[in-house]
Amino acid sequence: MSIRSFVRYTAVGRLLMIPVRFVLFGLPPMFRQLKLALGWVFTSKEYYNWTYNLTELNGQYLASYIAVVTGHEVSVIEGYIREVENDQALRSLLIERTLASPDRHSCDVEPRYGKRLGWYALVRATKPRVIVETGVDRGLGTAVIAAALLQNDKEGFPGIVYATDIAADCGHLLAEPYKKYCQIIIGDSIASLKKFNQPTDIFLHDSCHEPDYEWSEFIAIEPRLHSASIVMSDNSLLTDKLLQFAQRIGYSFLYFQDQPKNHWWPGDGIGTAFKPGVKTYFPDQTRKN
Ligand SMILES: C[S@@+](CC[C@H](N)C(=O)[O-])C[C@H]1O[C@@H](n2cnc3c(N)ncnc32)[C@H](O)[C@@H]1O
Repeated sequence: MSIRSFVRYTAVGRLLMIPVRFVLFGLPPMFRQLKLALGWVFTSKEYYNWTYNLTELNGQYLASYIAVVTGHEVSVIEGYIREVENDQALRSLLIERTLASPDRHSCDVEPRYGKRLGWYALVRATKPRVIVETGVDRGLGTAVIAAALLQNDKEGFPGIVYATDIAADCGHLLAEPYKKYCQIIIGDSIASLKKFNQPTDIFLHDSCHEPDYEWSEFIAIEPRLHSASIVMSDNSLLTDKLLQFAQRIGYSFLYFQDQPKNHWWPGDGIGTAFKPGVKTYFPDQTRKN
């Protein structure tokens, strides 16, 4: 019997292969992660809400994902992603605000947009009038959304992002000319959403990531959604709450998985509840509530 057959077709061969498989296949990815984590502790200051760039391939998939959920051409979405990547005014302001903040010792100065590039392109393509984002933190996502709203406004499509957070000192990255496109609502986000009375084009959950809390946010915003609203979650890596909500309101659901570039974190993602095959363009929509 050959060694290959012995290993493949006998119980003893299988036992002998356990340490070999561990060393050859199990350990190398762990070492890669360890190396990334070791580099990261010395080069990054973050201790939560990790920011990272996406790999090039993942960036291409993100553009394709946003094209599918909005019904717009991939080339158009790619153009919007390039637009924000090349927006030096936004980048400089975010750097300046970070350096001026007491959080500068626990935040990285370089703005890494990651999945927020997708949020930007979605807003640019669909021209929403009202966006609700729960969970502001430093305001990186809110600023990116506001930057998209500023460009939409220049093209004659005004909009606003209402962003909720329980921390009164959230949003230190926000400043003019972007701040006028944001309204921060301080308090528990479910309580804030229950009081919120505007028809909502885009809803984005990114606050408390407890599954029941995420679900309660969707239920609280449901009366404000209209037939073309898009609902997103930053928590779909961990829960199926948006999938369930999509089924409840008769929408489809798709998930995009981030692939961070040179980072130990395996990445978050974007869950979206949407109507497939529809080109979403909010200025064409009448809002009933
Ligand atoms: C993941 S961070 C938000 C990240 C942000 N969207 C971004 O793009 O960087 C989560 C935020 O949710 C806030 N949060 C946690 N529980 C909350 C609650 N019950 N109501 C409102 N905000 C809450 C936290 O204070 C934190 O700032």
